[in-house]
Amino acid sequence: MSTSFTLNATDGMARTGVISTPRGDIRTPAFMPVGTAATVKAMMPESVRATGADILLGNTYHLMLRPTAERINRLGGLHKFMNWARPILTDSGGFQVMSLAALRKLTENGVTFKSHIDGSKHEITPERSMEIQRLLGSDIVMAFDECTPYPCTEAQALESMRLSMRWAQRSRDAFGDRPGHMLFGIQQGSVFPDQREESAEALKKIGFDGYAVGGLAVGEGQEMMLQTLDFATDMLPSDKPRYLMGVGKPDDIVGAVKRGIDMMDCVLPSRSGRTAQAWTRRGQLNMKNARHQDDPRPLDEHCTCPTCRNYSRAYLHHVFRAQEMISGMLLTWHNLHYYQELMQGMRDAIAAGDFAGFEAQFHAQRAEGDI
Ligand code: GUN
Ligand code: ZN
Repeated sequence: MSTSFTLNATDGMARTGVISTPRGDIRTPAFMPVGTAATVKAMMPESVRATGADILLGNTYHLMLRPTAERINRLGGLHKFMNWARPILTDSGGFQVMSLAALRKLTENGVTFKSHIDGSKHEITPERSMEIQRLLGSDIVMAFDECTPYPCTEAQALESMRLSMRWAQRSRDAFGDRPGHMLFGIQQGSVFPDQREESAEALKKIGFDGYAVGGLAVGEGQEMMLQTLDFATDMLPSDKPRYLMGVGKPDDIVGAVKRGIDMMDCVLPSRSGRTAQAWTRRGQLNMKNARHQDDPRPLDEHCTCPTCRNYSRAYLHHVFRAQEMISGMLLTWHNLHYYQELMQGMRDAIAAGDFAGFEAQFHAQRAEGDI
């Protein structure tokens, strides 16, 4: 069985559709919870599914170091290993090497580095990244790239982007023909329109099953990111999924979907759940705050997640203060549920031709604030 991308409706630049894979459909716009080390932290996979997720993100870098791609392969692949039978997208490793590993060295061939876990030496090349993602059994494989740091000069961005485009061709060649699996290219070029254009043209010439916008959400700020998306997204083929990597806060996500993005991933809902941050329609809540200690209300009286149906703000405050594990579990569940409900709201609004109405209500509710 093969894969496909079907657009069902568009509203302005915003689109809704379905990516079909042998492991299941991905409704777009899609938010992908991050399952870096073969787990979405603090969540059982069936609970992640219950929040409405169609696909998870996994990481080449972490899994190659521990427990290794070869071991996961011997054990039947990542889906079986982590008990998630639906689609998995894996990032290609370079971005995580640059942000986590020690003694990183970038050459034309790839990147060498020391593990942040035990200091052991490793190398990732485009060919090795494709091999690791194949051993894992990833459904959507990302090309190996360099995420250009921000800020950087135009000359640095150009050199970095062109290296990523040479690596994109090597990734395509090494990936080969794998029915049922998709390979996505990654556009770079920092915030420079002519470089984004050159990158998009290079990727289209190679030919991919989907196209990611990389090198954003790296410190440029929301305004600059959305300005870049204003021109960068439209350079990518409209008949293929477009994925904005590593984004974001709820308002970043709404802004990205408005500009034609179909897929996103971010650690924010899961990570911030473990530091007592809750995301709701009315903005962000800090459950550490003593103002919650006598509050019998749920986080959000309109939310249908198990946390909001069964637990008070006072309880969530208490279990965080007492450092109980259920604190991260309940807040992560709520946050992932909120993110998935946001995506469903956008899919419905695009299908109904009222994305503008959705966006207005989204911002109005946040402006009202909590209580
Ligand atoms: N995650 C966030 N940004 C990037 C990027 O530019 N490249 C890759 N591979 N992963 C990312
Ligand atoms: Zn909730």
